[in-house]
Amino acid sequence: MSKNAVINLDGKDIELPIIEGTEGEKAIDIRKLRAESGYITIDSGFGNTGSCESTITFIDGAKGILRYRGFTIEELTEKCSFEKVIYLLMYDKLPTDDELSSFNEDLKKYSTIDNDLFKSLFSSMPKDAHPMSILSAALSVLSTHESENLNPLDPAQVDIAAKKLMAKIPLIAAASYKYSKGEEFNVSDSGLNYTANFLHLMFSNGSDKYDLKPAVETVMNKLFVLHADHEQNCSTSAVRFVGSSQANLFASVVAGVNALSGPSHGGANQKVLEQLQSICDDGGDASKFIAKAKDKADPFRLMGFGHRVYKNFDPRAKLIKQSCDEVLNVLGLNDPLLNVAKELSQTALNDKYFSDRKLYPNVDFYSGIIYKAIGFPVEMFTVLFAIGRLPGWITQWKEMHAVDNRIGRPRQIYSGENERSL
Ligand code: SDX
Repeated sequence: MSKNAVINLDGKDIELPIIEGTEGEKAIDIRKLRAESGYITIDSGFGNTGSCESTITFIDGAKGILRYRGFTIEELTEKCSFEKVIYLLMYDKLPTDDELSSFNEDLKKYSTIDNDLFKSLFSSMPKDAHPMSILSAALSVLSTHESENLNPLDPAQVDIAAKKLMAKIPLIAAASYKYSKGEEFNVSDSGLNYTANFLHLMFSNGSDKYDLKPAVETVMNKLFVLHADHEQNCSTSAVRFVGSSQANLFASVVAGVNALSGPSHGGANQKVLEQLQSICDDGGDASKFIAKAKDKADPFRLMGFGHRVYKNFDPRAKLIKQSCDEVLNVLGLNDPLLNVAKELSQTALNDKYFSDRKLYPNVDFYSGIIYKAIGFPVEMFTVLFAIGRLPGWITQWKEMHAVDNRIGRPRQIYSGENERSL
């Protein structure tokens, strides 16, 4: 295959290198284009533009494949704890037992927060403040107490900052939930692993310890693993972009939290549940909502459906759907929303509008059913996504610094007024 692409601009041939990845993906490297031709490219939404080369995550959108560091999510969710996947992503290696044990000890060491500090922070917000806004504010406040771990160019400081973020985000999430219920904050139980401790922080109430069912811990571990990374999605790109200005890791992660909160991205899991509930309340007839989603005059979209990259079933949705039935059975629940979801998905998948546009259920379509069954309030769903995605954000931010941390600064084509006088 030719190593160069040749484009002819204004009668001049411009040769641009072709890059091929380890999975056969190809790109035209346009880094010399402007210098050699004066032209730039434009691609609003960046649907056709690569921002980097990366060794972290591979997605094949046509085949519905997702791998972290070469391992499939099917195998990782079967065989690995969330902590092991965090380690694999962050350090680009599967940990030995000793390495994982030492990593977990560090996370436990940092698994504390200043309750008074966060109570005063939460009290400054409206009672119905959205948990993603609370998380964004809390992580910024956290960074003000970490001045010795903010240098983005010092690997030792970055490692401590990364571990503190991973260790403290469950505490902050649970504390905001407890505050909203007027309950005392729980403290970490060092005898529990990461996921079990988070469920304890959320649902224990003082001496009344949470009755942790193995199936619930297993499915939460699986959900965290499935959300851990997803190459250059909107929030990860925000983390990389903000980090490229040499903003510290906390500030870059806060950008990711805010990007994830949008209903087109991580906020969709909350919207899916609200949408399913509306269908349920409306008598359970999905066809009305399908018609709205197809109506170009109506901004309504079927939440949890469609994806920029997957033009096949999102492999995460498949795995999460399997777990829905398992968890509801274990908890002895029969949630009508699951039946509505299944009927909605089937109706849409049989509809030409969706099949023509290759719109399939994505990661957000079924996850909320499980979160609801476990007892999480719907407003917390996107925070759960953020906890899962945090290791991916950190890993991608570290790779940006390691490979090319020049400040991100796209160009534009000006289409406004030419020079004129007042
Ligand atoms: C996540 O990028 C990632 O990797 C994200 C994520 C991750 O792990 O980080 O996977 C997590 O964000 C999943 C997506 C969650 N969002 C939703 O479920 C919201 C509903 N979905 C859509 O808003 C939409 O599908 C997006 C935002 C996910 C993708 O949008 P694109 O790629 O910009 O697609 P598009 O808007 O260009 O749509 C193409 C066509 C359009 O119709 P036409 O103009 O061709 O006639 O498909 C239609 C759209 O109107 N369409 C939908 C639809 N999604 C796309 N129509 C109805 N309902 C939908 N959900």
